[in-house]
Amino acid sequence: MGRAMAVRFAPVTAAFVARLRERLGEEAVRADEAELLRYGRDETEDLQYRAEVVVRPRTAAEVAAVLALAYAADVPVTPRGAGTGLSGGALPVYGGVVLSLERMNRILEVDEDNLMCRVEPGVVTAALQEEVLRRGLYYPPDPASSGSCQIGGNLAENAGGPHCVKYGLTKDYVLALEAVRADGRPFRTGGKLRKDVAGYNLTQLLVGSEGTLAVVTEATLRLIPAPQARRVLLAAFDDLDTAARGITAVYRSRVTPAALEIVERAALAAAAEHLGRPVPHGDAEAQILLELDGMDEAQVERDLERVGEVLMAAGARDALLADTPAKERELWAVRRCLGEAVKKQAAYVECDTAVPPARVPDLLRGVREVARRFGIRQVSYGHAGDGNIHVNVLTDSPDREERERRLGPAVEAIFRVAVGLGGTITGEHGVGCAQARYLKLCRDPVAIETMRAIKDALDPKGLLNPGKVLEARVPPPLAARGAPRTLVP
Ligand code: LAC
Ligand code: ZN
Repeated sequence: MGRAMAVRFAPVTAAFVARLRERLGEEAVRADEAELLRYGRDETEDLQYRAEVVVRPRTAAEVAAVLALAYAADVPVTPRGAGTGLSGGALPVYGGVVLSLERMNRILEVDEDNLMCRVEPGVVTAALQEEVLRRGLYYPPDPASSGSCQIGGNLAENAGGPHCVKYGLTKDYVLALEAVRADGRPFRTGGKLRKDVAGYNLTQLLVGSEGTLAVVTEATLRLIPAPQARRVLLAAFDDLDTAARGITAVYRSRVTPAALEIVERAALAAAAEHLGRPVPHGDAEAQILLELDGMDEAQVERDLERVGEVLMAAGARDALLADTPAKERELWAVRRCLGEAVKKQAAYVECDTAVPPARVPDLLRGVREVARRFGIRQVSYGHAGDGNIHVNVLTDSPDREERERRLGPAVEAIFRVAVGLGGTITGEHGVGCAQARYLKLCRDPVAIETMRAIKDALDPKGLLNPGKVLEARVPPPLAARGAPRTLVP
């Protein structure tokens, strides 16, 4: 049993709220019921919890003050970005304070001499990308929610997205952090340095730690020159296996795509329904969406030709080239809407599997077998070039407990397939509270004990984002969205 299960959290009292208001001002502290519920959910399935108080600081000093007050009072704190997460990482499962970083949303500096920027955690990812692009620079990590998700959440989850296959994940762009420990003490992890090996790498320890070790108040991020040329290609296949093997063929061609996505037919159907229009090659059993980019247009064209040939030789029935920016956007719109589109279909649980890229065909085959065995529907798509496939299992049952009974065993079986192929239970969405019970499938006991030791060292009272990553059991969510039952008296 996780250590924090034994911790007694103190309730948020009127006196505690008064202290927050005194320090941060009236408008930074929210306690009306609608807000407490709004900040009690994210984009993960239908999980709904309830915050006891929501605070929205504007400065690092205010973040430190909130944490210090909560620490003194034994009140848990759940840091939060835009709430677009898919593993319940920002849900206040034990109530307490939701610490929203949304108002710390300034781009503090774009340093063109060093190709770096400094940002506050509440900056929306796409806003940063647009700002640096105006100067010919590129910040590549782009989760599907990039239009609304925030850098702080991206750091917490080590977010990915389609362009990781060439450019890497969030972690690959983080040079330094300013953060606050659970007890309210601030610290820095580095500087505007391309090289810095002084001591343990605290920067990378915090990236992907899901808000359980410290709260980030500023990040120094690396930028790269923006590619000047781009081409997008869609290859349609008559069967999923052939498409999946096409991924390996692209790898073997030695061309590095900027994105290499796979979408199966059921996901295409969901997209068509969601968008209210037919999608290109919507009748294909599977599609590969491939993007190439670079500085030299002629080189990109040569790569395109090469990859097109490779995919046709691998068995594609057709390859469609986006010849205008509008066409590119259309192809990407289909891919980017899939999360939303699948969500609309039925109640679902998403398995964010990742395997070595060459094992994607085995993964997809294994997943279909599991679906058959358990008699459930599944819809798969994702970042095949990274071996990262989002497997969604669906049920039409309106009852949450019934859904858990039906889907739970299938989810575990799917994770076992992924792990059996040398894979993991989450490639980019994080463990949060939704996946915590499966962590032991892919991490050995000593590794988990090591994680626990780190957590205990940084947050000895277990107050920071409790119920996440290492804790397999959390209080049940409220019955349904909009029909809350009180969690905390
Ligand atoms: C995507 C999200 C679900 O790739 O990660 O669309
Ligand atoms: Zn994804």
